[in-house]
Amino acid sequence: MKKIAIINGPNLNLLGTREPEIYGNQTFESYFERLQMKFPNIELTYFQSNIEGEIINKLHEIGFDFDGIILNAAGYTHTSVSIADAVKSIKTSVIEVHISNVFAREEFRHKSLIAPNCKGVIAGLGLLGYDLAIEVF
Ligand code: DQA
Repeated sequence: MKKIAIINGPNLNLLGTREPEIYGNQTFESYFERLQMKFPNIELTYFQSNIEGEIINKLHEIGFDFDGIILNAAGYTHTSVSIADAVKSIKTSVIEVHISNVFAREEFRHKSLIAPNCKGVIAGLGLLGYDLAIEVF
């Protein structure tokens, strides 16, 4: 069975209540249950942290034997040299996902330090972006 992990960064634990006009009103937990039902033949893992080092540790932990990693590093996308380095240091390929269309928002969200080290990027398609990323691996 393929092993695919979703890693969500800061503030994404508040999905459903956080700025619903941008991020929708579904919690990630309820969405993740639906994903597991949709992909019964894939071993899906979900990890969320608000702490940069924990995201890096998780990438190191799973990044040598998982078949794919879907990473929404949230605000760290635009700032974290260390998460970008971690993505570059592991073997498993990573797809960067953003729920919102970061290119239609503030200029500081247009730049991703992580994207150059990723297999691809999906942005602006809401939670569907995670479904699509799973299909790629
Ligand atoms: C986000 C976009 C980021 O700019 C923002 O900081 C987030 C969420 C998204 O999924 O649209 O926290 O990664």
